[in-house]
Amino acid sequence: REGLSTTLLGQSIVYRETIDSTNSLAQQLALGGAPEGTLVIADEQTSGRGRRGRQWFSPPHSGIWMSLILRPELPLAHAAQITLVAAVALNQALSRATGVQAGIKWPNDILFNGKKCCGILTEMHAEFDQIHHLVVGIGINVNVAQDEFPAELEGIATSLQAIRGERIPRAQVVRTVLEEFEPLYRQYVLNGGFGTLRDAWKANNITLGRHIVAHTARGDIEGLALDIDEFGVLLLEKADGEREKIYSADITVINQ
Ligand code: BTN
Repeated sequence: REGLSTTLLGQSIVYRETIDSTNSLAQQLALGGAPEGTLVIADEQTSGRGRRGRQWFSPPHSGIWMSLILRPELPLAHAAQITLVAAVALNQALSRATGVQAGIKWPNDILFNGKKCCGILTEMHAEFDQIHHLVVGIGINVNVAQDEFPAELEGIATSLQAIRGERIPRAQVVRTVLEEFEPLYRQYVLNGGFGTLRDAWKANNITLGRHIVAHTARGDIEGLALDIDEFGVLLLEKADGEREKIYSADITVINQ
């Protein structure tokens, strides 16, 4: 907490040396009434969770495995947009704290040279159609040597240490993430969503203008990523000129 200049995020901190998943603990604490801004952070996760039921490699002392409890008074429809807000904060924080100029792959991966160094997993709890709380889980591969990643992540994952060629102290990165996230989060709450942060997202993204394949529940859709709207929905232009809105997908950027 030393030197932390935020007034909401990280005012209350729950630290564990080892935990199954910081998102799971944050969910429990949130249901138990933990205050907004509570930061749950661990040195190691034994079952770190990724999006779509995947595992998240979370070895001891090598990364930032953290979750934030947020309680925006917003309709549930706006909940997913917090992930885009968090991605902007993360990308800005990496640049400011470590000089690493990475970029956002829609919706919420941070990539450097095509490899992922951070991921975000947002989980939500609703009461009727209002948000009760959000848990924004952030994983940053910090001091993982490139050859320490499991074989299946080869060519897919990277770390700040691998990028910078030196060990990076984690505390400064955590502090910077909270400092970058707080003002963006306040804007998201005040303006009732992602809308006013769209330009900031665009300034940090590496998706728009690229040919991509969106792997959606309705199948793969290929096209040029044209834009995102004020709800964070991705607009694709297919080869036949037809435009499609992508609400939720994993995407692959095609090199060309
Ligand atoms: C993804 O890209 O698939 C999302 C990865 C999110 C990982 C973080 S690490 C801290 C928090 N706790 C978890 O179990 N997952 C998130």
